[in-house]
Amino acid sequence: MTRHFLALHDYNEIELYGMLTLARELKAKQKQGTAHRLLEGKTVALIFEKASTRTRVSFEVGVFQLGGHGLFMSSGTSQMGRGEPIKDSARVMSRYCDGVMIRTFGQEIVEEFARYSSIPVINGLTDLFHPCQIMADLLTVIEYKHTYEGLTFAWVGDGNNMANTWIEAAAIFGFDLKLACPQGYEPDAAVLAWAQAQAPGRIQLTTDPKVAVQDADVINTDVWASMGQESEQKEREQAFAGYCLDDALLALAKPDCIVLHCLPAHRGEEISDSVIEGRNSVVWDEAENRLHIQKAIMATLIK
Ligand code: CP
Ligand code: NVA
Repeated sequence: MTRHFLALHDYNEIELYGMLTLARELKAKQKQGTAHRLLEGKTVALIFEKASTRTRVSFEVGVFQLGGHGLFMSSGTSQMGRGEPIKDSARVMSRYCDGVMIRTFGQEIVEEFARYSSIPVINGLTDLFHPCQIMADLLTVIEYKHTYEGLTFAWVGDGNNMANTWIEAAAIFGFDLKLACPQGYEPDAAVLAWAQAQAPGRIQLTTDPKVAVQDADVINTDVWASMGQESEQKEREQAFAGYCLDDALLALAKPDCIVLHCLPAHRGEEISDSVIEGRNSVVWDEAENRLHIQKAIMATLIK
C-alpha cells in the first residue's frame, strides 16, 4: 500500500520517532561523508504552487544526496497552472516518478492528489499543515534537549499551518503545548478538537503571550500573514500587537529555553532581531534539519 505524508495524524509516535531516528543517522552519515544512497535512481517531483527557499533547496539537495533526482515543477510553468485536473496530474506523474512533494494552498488538494497517486505524496506545506517543518523542529528539540518528553512547548502568534501541526504533534508525541493567539486568529477548530480528544489537558489556548511562554522549554513563532494572506498584512499587524517575541517575553521562559522559527522571519514583527540573533535561538540548526528529516521521510516512504 502506498503511504503518503500529508499530515502527522496519519502516523503514530513510534512511526514518527522512527523517522526522527533515521534522520539522525543520515545526518551523521552526511557529516562523515559516508554514502547513504537510499534513493539510487529514483526521481522525486517537487511541485510548488507557493514560493519557497528552504523546502525547495532541502528537498532538491536531499534527493541528490540520496542518489536520486529532484524534479522542480511550478504551477506557473506546468499544465497544473492552466487548470489540468489534480487527479489527472497525479496519475500522469505516478507513471514517471517515484515520489512527489507538493506545496500548495488547500489541504484537500494534496489529499486529492494522493487519492489518485500510486506513488508517495509528501505535504511540503498547505494552508492547514506543515508536517515536514514540525518534524525538523522536533529533530532540533531532541538535539538540544535530548527528548521532548516532559518539556513545555509554547506557540506565540497566528493559529496557522505551523500552529495546527504543533497541535497534532503535541497530541501524538504527548507533550504540553500552550498557544497564544489573538481572538479571531485561533488554530483550526477541527484540528484542536481532534488533538484535545487524543490528549486531554495537553493543549492550552490563551490570548496572552506571557501565559504561553511562562517557564517554556521551547518557544516557536511564525509570520503573522502566511502565504496567500498578503492582503491582510496591515490588519494583522494591528491584531498581533503585543505578540512580538522580544527579550521581555523571552525572559519569562526558562533561561535555557530554545527559540524556533521556521523562517522566513519578519524581524521587528513576530520576533525581535535580538531574539532571533540571540543565544536561545536555534533557527539555523532548525533550517538545516529540514534537509535531514526530509531525507528520512523520503527514504521511509519511497520504495
Ligand atoms: N520554512 C519553510 O518552509 O521555508 P520556505 O518557505 O523557504 O520553504
Ligand atoms: N506560515 C507560513 C510558513 C512559511 C514557511 C506560511 O504558510 O506562509
